[in-house]
Amino acid sequence: MYFMPYISQSFIDDLPNQIDIVDLISKRLSLKKTGSDYRAPCPFHGGKNRNFAVNSHKQFYHCFKCGESGGAISFVQKFDNLDFVEAIEVIAGEFGLKIEYDSNTKPVDPRLERYRDLSQKVSDFYKQQLRGSPAKKKAVDYAVNRGISGEIAKRFELGFAPPSNQDLLLAFEKDEQASADLKSLGLVKTGEYGDYDFFRDRLMFPIHNTKGNVIAFGGRAFDNKAKAKYLNSSESPIFSKSRELYGLYHARKHSRTMDYVLVVEGYMDVVALHQANFTKVVATLGTATTPEHLQILARTTNTIVFCFDGDNAGRAAAWKALQIALPIIKAGLVIKFLFLPDGEDPDTLVKKESTKAFEARIEKAHTLSHFLFEHVKAEVDFDTIEGKTLFLEKVSILINQVNYEIYQQQLIDGVAQVVGQSVDQVQTVFKQLAEQSMSTSFDTIPMPESEPFEGQEPDFSDFSDDYQQPSIAPQENSAVKALMSRMISLLLNYPSIAYDNDTVEVRIRVLRKNDEKFKSLLALVHNAEMDGDISQEELLKPFKDKVGVYNRLKQLCILVPYLSENEAKNEFLDALLKLENQQKKAQSLFIKDEKEYVKNLQARKGKKKG
Ligand code: GTP
Ligand code: MN
Repeated sequence: MYFMPYISQSFIDDLPNQIDIVDLISKRLSLKKTGSDYRAPCPFHGGKNRNFAVNSHKQFYHCFKCGESGGAISFVQKFDNLDFVEAIEVIAGEFGLKIEYDSNTKPVDPRLERYRDLSQKVSDFYKQQLRGSPAKKKAVDYAVNRGISGEIAKRFELGFAPPSNQDLLLAFEKDEQASADLKSLGLVKTGEYGDYDFFRDRLMFPIHNTKGNVIAFGGRAFDNKAKAKYLNSSESPIFSKSRELYGLYHARKHSRTMDYVLVVEGYMDVVALHQANFTKVVATLGTATTPEHLQILARTTNTIVFCFDGDNAGRAAAWKALQIALPIIKAGLVIKFLFLPDGEDPDTLVKKESTKAFEARIEKAHTLSHFLFEHVKAEVDFDTIEGKTLFLEKVSILINQVNYEIYQQQLIDGVAQVVGQSVDQVQTVFKQLAEQSMSTSFDTIPMPESEPFEGQEPDFSDFSDDYQQPSIAPQENSAVKALMSRMISLLLNYPSIAYDNDTVEVRIRVLRKNDEKFKSLLALVHNAEMDGDISQEELLKPFKDKVGVYNRLKQLCILVPYLSENEAKNEFLDALLKLENQQKKAQSLFIKDEKEYVKNLQARKGKKKG
């Protein structure tokens, strides 16, 4: 979280007089003088015609096709994908203007500028080590062996973190503030034996934000057998992995158009692709693609091409990306999937084959719908009626995630073709499935005799002697079930929710009993509480021989929309609170005065203790 800086209004008002919008835009597009305007193909809707006009006199731009229009700040905001303040900062930077901040309000969180300045200095330090460190040979040899040219190393400002464990620390030791900030940025850590550099003996990749500021680092070990092949800077006020894309700054800087963006997996892939003249490329930072990533990309390009390994792991990662993409697809945005031959990544492939050949691969990337249908088809026994039914179920869940109606309809048409039925038939099935999934509860599924968790039957003895668990009104009942489904879904994706909070299990335990879904939730929480790193598979294992429950849980493994761990945790705890409130409400049907109820409860407990 950072505070909004307050740039003085008069500075903002005067900005258009201080700059020329034609200069500003011509740095980003190739403008051609046409009559009194300057023209270019529109960067916002794409297309080849010069519909996009910039008027120097009015300091205004306008696309006659898509209607995008505005002034300098709005252009930079949209084109560079920046917020208002960032856009002003970029413009001021390009025209050498000094921003005036409002004197009577607090400007930006002062740490941010300090952190960015320091990150730049650290980057300079690593760069300088690559040229001058006594240990540099290893790093230089490594870069050469991996085929990185001097030009490309320079473009990406590659550096070297020397092997001793205090070089960086010592370089800044005289600056007290910097030394403290290095720790805040995770570049210096504190251990049992004192402070030490986080990155040691690694090839360093500075990570830039869209404005070109260094905000973090990735470091590649020289030895493939190193414990961590790559290390990334920790999250900080200036760096959030779920929002940043490695190479986006360079892509914009070195590409003439952004007619597509290739999303690859690794730093080295980005670097190698640049070297082969593919500059429209970004990589996530060792995480799955997030909705934020996609939203940023969608503002940059009309075509996002995900590039993955053709092996199982690559396909699984692509599938995850597809699920995240579905709700985000909007008019004008195309998403494609490019699968590389087994065992290859863009880095190795582009070194083996010609630029032309790789270009052809990009052109032949599969559409999202193709990948969607193929993937689900492979999951079922498609040649049987049962398989086709399952296929319809699965794709309906996915296609229901699409918010862009025209595309959704096209997908439904596609499904009809794939299963060889009429669109009407498919639509009817989809509707039924949607209704069913709203009301499906565990109660409709035959439940196992035995508890999924041995010997973990919740103990309600405190309650049961003179207090009857109230029954819940029907519509509340389904709300409760929906909440529990959601909690299960969140937990299956982030077991750490239970692990990090040891009161969760107890709180759930005292909610209700004799509800099968509840029992599953409790069993999951119980097992997640024991092991926060437990895998989804591991969590599901105890349910494996209870087919109905197992299948339902499998469905709940899909978490839509995608949430970060923190968001998931918050939602989980929110849901739990709601359940607790529901329970209280239900109880108050029986015991009017809640205080009295609690008093009773305490009295009973007190009696037992005493
Ligand atoms: P090279 O082996 O150098 O070619 O790397 P790569 O870019 O091909 O990496 P790989 O495909 O193995 O991994 C893709 C990305 O995942 C990397 O660029 C990193 O961002 C991340 N990554 C890989 N290994 C690790 C690791 O051990 N720790 C962390 N934090 N991230 C990793
Ligand atoms: Mn690689």
